[in-house]
Amino acid sequence: MRRSLVAGNWKMNGSVAMTDDLLTGLKKGVARSMPDVDVVVCPPFLYIPRAVQMLAGSTIKVGAQNLDIHEPGAYTGEIAAEMIKEQHCGYVIVGHSERRALYGESSDLVAQKAKVAVAAELKPIICVGETLEERERGDTGRVVREQLMCVLDLNGVEIFPFAIIAYEPVWAIGTGRSASPDQAQEVHALIRESIAELNPNVADHTRLLYGGSVKPDNAQAIFSSPDIDGGLIGGAALVASDFLAICKSMER
Ligand code: PGA
Repeated sequence: MRRSLVAGNWKMNGSVAMTDDLLTGLKKGVARSMPDVDVVVCPPFLYIPRAVQMLAGSTIKVGAQNLDIHEPGAYTGEIAAEMIKEQHCGYVIVGHSERRALYGESSDLVAQKAKVAVAAELKPIICVGETLEERERGDTGRVVREQLMCVLDLNGVEIFPFAIIAYEPVWAIGTGRSASPDQAQEVHALIRESIAELNPNVADHTRLLYGGSVKPDNAQAIFSSPDIDGGLIGGAALVASDFLAICKSMER
């Protein structure tokens, strides 16, 4: 049985006051219930130490949104895996579509980031997903498989089940238009089959998340699909009651 996982991607949002408010709310909500769901928050780097401090004694874990592939050194503006690990993070998002589209991250770089994360014992949440144009061309399966294969070619199937995949259709991110449960399940099944071709047991244990306009009112329907083990949540992760409702709908 795969443990459910819900991760909140705050993106470049927040402040010290917002971190305090949001985490106070989440801490209370998660303490009351949810023993079966791994709950993770990924604030901007600057708020990570505060988040870790505030969540001491809670089951909520903290992750980062990005990392650099190099060892510490002359890389102005970047953050190394071991620095993230030193701040007691357990997770790191890699290859988010905003990083791919706005900062030119290639699938090869994403695969390297996943490798560096694992070497630092950070669970990478590796994002894959097609654009609207690719979906309309009928290219969804090919695009997602190519992104996944880059990770597998560099890291081997052994990177799973430690690593996690988040399927996030680009057209669903921040648009209010989520994939339908059937559309999401179809791609999740493809991802699991692709891993199973290399190792069925590993595929069985690998957690696959869905991301893209998950809200309290559509979470239950999306999460009830057999190959969807949780979610990567953007906008709704910034409101404690919404994020808690989404986590709650993941309880089996
Ligand atoms: P969204 O973002 O939930 O606001 O669509 C998801 C993500 O970007 O991870």
